[in-house]
Amino acid sequence: MSKIAVLRLGHRIIRDQRITTHIALVARAYGAHEVIITGDRDEGLIKSVERVVERWGGDFTARFEGSWKAVIRNWKNAGGTVIHLTMYGINLPDIIGEIREKWKAGKDLLVIVGGEKVPGEVFYLADYNVAVSNQPHSEVAALATFLDWLQEGKELTREYPNARLKIIPQSRGKKVLVLKGSADETGNK
Ligand SMILES: C[S@@+](CC[C@H](N)C(=O)[O-])C[C@H]1O[C@@H](n2cnc3c(N)ncnc32)[C@H](O)[C@@H]1O
Repeated sequence: MSKIAVLRLGHRIIRDQRITTHIALVARAYGAHEVIITGDRDEGLIKSVERVVERWGGDFTARFEGSWKAVIRNWKNAGGTVIHLTMYGINLPDIIGEIREKWKAGKDLLVIVGGEKVPGEVFYLADYNVAVSNQPHSEVAALATFLDWLQEGKELTREYPNARLKIIPQSRGKKVLVLKGSADETGNK
């Protein structure tokens, strides 16, 4: 399947730490391969995402980039498709089929989520401006819904290779398998 990356615009180190972390966690748990962050450089944020990947597996990566414009330009030059999530766009049910077809045909997708203020140019550089309802809400909710509709729920049963920890689903209580030989088992975290 083609690649899905998430571009988070305009991270602010103090105000956005929690919400940008949630964007990265949602991107990983909902089947994206990578999160690219622009705005304030925040090494602590990257490290916390890397710790999640070390413990819970998969090959998800997180990185900072200085220029969102260069990220979008490079993505398009490489033949990928750029989707900007905005409440002003075409509502998801009316456009997701077309985007899914491109993705299934091999186009890598870059999904952009904004912060407080999104530069107007983003609306023109994107191939698609997509709304998850034409009502204001949250970049985390918009991202989760978009990724879920794109993959039609299949991302929820995905396996995460090289995990140290694996949850054994329970109808009540918590059961976590600590995989043999992992740092979590030996205490060397
Ligand atoms: C605090 S909101 C800002 C709302 C902004 N005026 C807009 O263009 O959607 C931050 C981000 O959440 C996402 N967002 C909020 N509501 C959305 C919606 N209904 N559909 C898609 N994305 C949304 C967008 O990526 C937006 O840049």
